[in-house]
Amino acid sequence: MSPILLAIESSCDETSASIIQHGKVLNNVIASQSIHQKYGGVVPELASRAHQQNILMVVNECLSTSGISKKELNAIAFTRGPGLMGSLLVGVSFAKGMAWSLGLPLIEVNHMEAHVLAHFIDEPKPVFPFLCLTVSGGHTQIVLVEDYLNMKVIGETQDDAVGEAFDKAAKMMGLPYPGGPLIDQYAKLGNAKAYKFSETTMAGLDFSFSGIKTSLLYFLRDQKKLDPRFVEKNRDDICASLQRSLVDMLLQKVKKAAKETGIRQVAIAGGVSANSGLRDGLKKIAEELGWTIFIPEFQYCTDNAAMIAMAAHYKYLKGEFCTLDVAPVAYMAIGD
Ligand code: KG4
Ligand code: ZN
Repeated sequence: MSPILLAIESSCDETSASIIQHGKVLNNVIASQSIHQKYGGVVPELASRAHQQNILMVVNECLSTSGISKKELNAIAFTRGPGLMGSLLVGVSFAKGMAWSLGLPLIEVNHMEAHVLAHFIDEPKPVFPFLCLTVSGGHTQIVLVEDYLNMKVIGETQDDAVGEAFDKAAKMMGLPYPGGPLIDQYAKLGNAKAYKFSETTMAGLDFSFSGIKTSLLYFLRDQKKLDPRFVEKNRDDICASLQRSLVDMLLQKVKKAAKETGIRQVAIAGGVSANSGLRDGLKKIAEELGWTIFIPEFQYCTDNAAMIAMAAHYKYLKGEFCTLDVAPVAYMAIGD
């Protein structure tokens, strides 16, 4: 039977709910948390409190705008991990309470697998096997996707995630959190060849972003000694040069992965897949090498419940349910 499911996402700083009916996502309600901006990063305790304040409103809005009543639901899905423990707890507890009170089964979803499965929300859909570069504030991975629920990580960062590198670089430049989208915006106005930062090359398909971050730190420190207004005057060029390096580091490894696996279908997922430099760079390589590429719609790049609903749909079809004693997991790898 093709189900109607309610999915809840609360792993970081977005409270989101979505309804999926017969494999088709009906809506994607998201409440973002602006409270973290003044602290320059997500404050876990404030995030979980904001989830508590938002979750009922988000789920109610999701039900009312979908035209689906609670009685029509076949299961409740939720993000089990990875994520911030306090944030996950709010979504997991809410989903459990709702499933128990309505007598419905529960479906746990791995947030990173859901980022990959966001590619099945709209057409065109990838055909298996394909590669997915999953890039967010907490992860940087190359995933070999063999089936909806069968995927493995073939390369990943050994230190910072690329989203973290974007955000920390932005912070060094005095830009507000989250800095990734701002670097992207200013990069469009700058010269990507103005500055060169040290790019660490790891063995195999792994990444490292801590070196480039340190290289930027020392560069800014030295330049500011010569001219205290250096960042202000050269903001766009710094952003463009840094973005170019980060995108190059990502795409070089994706090229290598495609060569090694012989797979020419390549997708990108996660918050950093909204980056225009990455999107353009991927399109360019795809033209050169004859790849078929999949770039998600902006609303499905950053955290959202529609991708959780999509993953839950496939788990429902396979009869993969969990029991009421399920607990959130802060560190959870793809395939766990
Ligand atoms: O997937 P996501 O919403 O949350 C996590 O699971 O981490 O990703 C958030 C990350 C942040 O680091 C944010 O700065 C980055 O994605 N991001 C971007 C852009 N949009 C979001 N980074 C670079 N360019 C963008 N346009
Ligand atoms: Zn995410």
